[in-house]
Amino acid sequence: MPKQPAVANWRMGGITVSEVEDYLYSMLPPRDEVLTEMEAEASKNDVPIVGPAVARVLYQLALISGAKKVFEMGSAIGYSTIWWARAVGEGGRVIYTDGDRKRADKARQYFERAGVSQCITVRVGDALEFLSEEKEPYDIIFNDIDKIDYPRVVRLALPRLKSGGLFITDNVLWSGRVAKPKPDATTKAILEFNKMAYESKDLFTTILPIRDGVAVCVKK
Ligand SMILES: C[S@@+](CC[C@H](N)C(=O)[O-])C[C@H]1O[C@@H](n2cnc3c(N)ncnc32)[C@H](O)[C@@H]1O
Repeated sequence: MPKQPAVANWRMGGITVSEVEDYLYSMLPPRDEVLTEMEAEASKNDVPIVGPAVARVLYQLALISGAKKVFEMGSAIGYSTIWWARAVGEGGRVIYTDGDRKRADKARQYFERAGVSQCITVRVGDALEFLSEEKEPYDIIFNDIDKIDYPRVVRLALPRLKSGGLFITDNVLWSGRVAKPKPDATTKAILEFNKMAYESKDLFTTILPIRDGVAVCVKK
């Protein structure tokens, strides 16, 4: 199995004090062989995955809400997808979406090895387009695509989420850049997204300052 670097790339940083961050990661129970290998691959090849601390939050939110249908926007090599698949369990469905065919091929192999292929639909192309074609409401929509498109995702996701469903978004604190002067275009898009999420009359939103910030919105 590939050796993990001392601090994996996907850990990010810049939100919580580094000693606290180290402590949080030191507490995490080990993952199985497939997830451990994916974490190592992501770190080695700079694949931006949510990592185990956030993945556990996703898994927990799916369990608490009894989610059975998850639409994931931006799935890369399928790390977060496997956590969703395990959370929805038998009879559940997770839609994997990514624009990168090579990553999708990798993801399919990991799904086989993790024993979750049967509940995952792999779609390669633009996640925004795929979501806009959806008619049935989802229990959870998870947004982890290019940050510049975040404001568009809010508008598309809301009508495709059941009442009481969760709209979850990663990287909403953007290594702390959301709180710094002179935001660039990507940071501006995230700032707009966060404002929309908090101000929407249809959503109840909190931001969890874990890793790079996770927005959890419940549809009223
Ligand atoms: C942060 S990574 C996803 C990581 C994954 N959620 C995980 O934690 O394991 C973002 C991925 O979204 C994909 N992506 C970005 N914009 C996209 C879009 N509009 N449609 C489909 N995929 C997109 C990229 O190719 C990249 O693989």
